Amino acid sequence: LTFLMTSLSKQEQVEWEKADYANVNWDELGFALTKTDYMYVMKFTEEEQMFCNGTLTRFGNIQMCPSSGILNYGQGLFEGLKAYRKEDEGILLFRTEENALRMKVGADRMCMPSPTVDQFIDAVKKSVLANKRWVPPHGRGSLYIRPLLMGTGRNLEVKPSSEYTFLVYASPVGNGLKGVLNLMVEDNVHRATPGGTGGIKAVTNYSPIYKPLTEAKAKGFSDLLYLDALTGSNIEECSGCNIFILKGNVISTPTTHGTILPGITRKSIMEIASGFGYQVEERAIPIKEVFDAEEVFCTGTAMIVKSVASITYQGKRIEYKLGAETLAQKLHATLTGIQTGVIEDKLGWTMVI
Ligand code: COI
Repeated sequence: LTFLMTSLSKQEQVEWEKADYANVNWDELGFALTKTDYMYVMKFTEEEQMFCNGTLTRFGNIQMCPSSGILNYGQGLFEGLKAYRKEDEGILLFRTEENALRMKVGADRMCMPSPTVDQFIDAVKKSVLANKRWVPPHGRGSLYIRPLLMGTGRNLEVKPSSEYTFLVYASPVGNGLKGVLNLMVEDNVHRATPGGTGGIKAVTNYSPIYKPLTEAKAKGFSDLLYLDALTGSNIEECSGCNIFILKGNVISTPTTHGTILPGITRKSIMEIASGFGYQVEERAIPIKEVFDAEEVFCTGTAMIVKSVASITYQGKRIEYKLGAETLAQKLHATLTGIQTGVIEDKLGWTMVI
């Protein structure tokens, strides 16, 4: 952090060192942006042809050419991960390498260069340490880290950008478990199509579902459950999270196959559930199977694990088991226990920074 410290005025340095925690009402946090102190920026220029000279700068607006690739043609990706505070005040990152690798896969699909895994991890660590006072106290939330990869060169023609920006910003967010989900099955709009970009975190995967999602929210639903675009008969995922169904001793989740985001929480929950003795299956799940599921839950970095209270399909509403005895609650407790350092991390998923 030498760079960071020398870039601060004497007064700022004093403030930064003495403030263990930012002035935040931690228990009120949801998933809205709370501006933090610093962001990390690293460029890929035409001259250098590699990502280099990454630096921490004050969090704030960025400048780019109106014809940049991200603004005109959506050449961009994002990632999401969290930093948690341990009981002893230490800070833990969770499976950061998985996010770095997923960004590389997405960058290849979007014809973009990507930072190396080491550059990605280094940027995340620096961003968290520089914003340490925004990491919520143990058990009261996390610091959500949002890495972006954007085509920022001049780009009127439809072709890959000549320059790129990798930027990492962060915001404290609350614990994910609050509330339950009431889903509506969307059988008109599709989130992803075979051969498209549903399997990567392309920025363009999200706003096209705002219209049906806004309509569903106006009817009182929390999210939509999308069906596969080819047959319209298999469930895929929700707007920003993966889905699991439980029946007997079997937990099933749709196979990713390029139209579903390979969630890092999804992957972790599959491993934890099989450690609990469940049979975990990745397969095509026909919509009719959700009618006789005992429990349904969704997973994602932002929401962690959340129970689904109901699914409504073509006017028919099915309700599921909720409460302290659900598998969703047990999985949530185990995952967050590992993420916050309360449960021993036998799988090497966490990293103290
Ligand atoms: C996350 O859970 O981190 C995501 O990226 C989903 C996002 C759309 C909130």
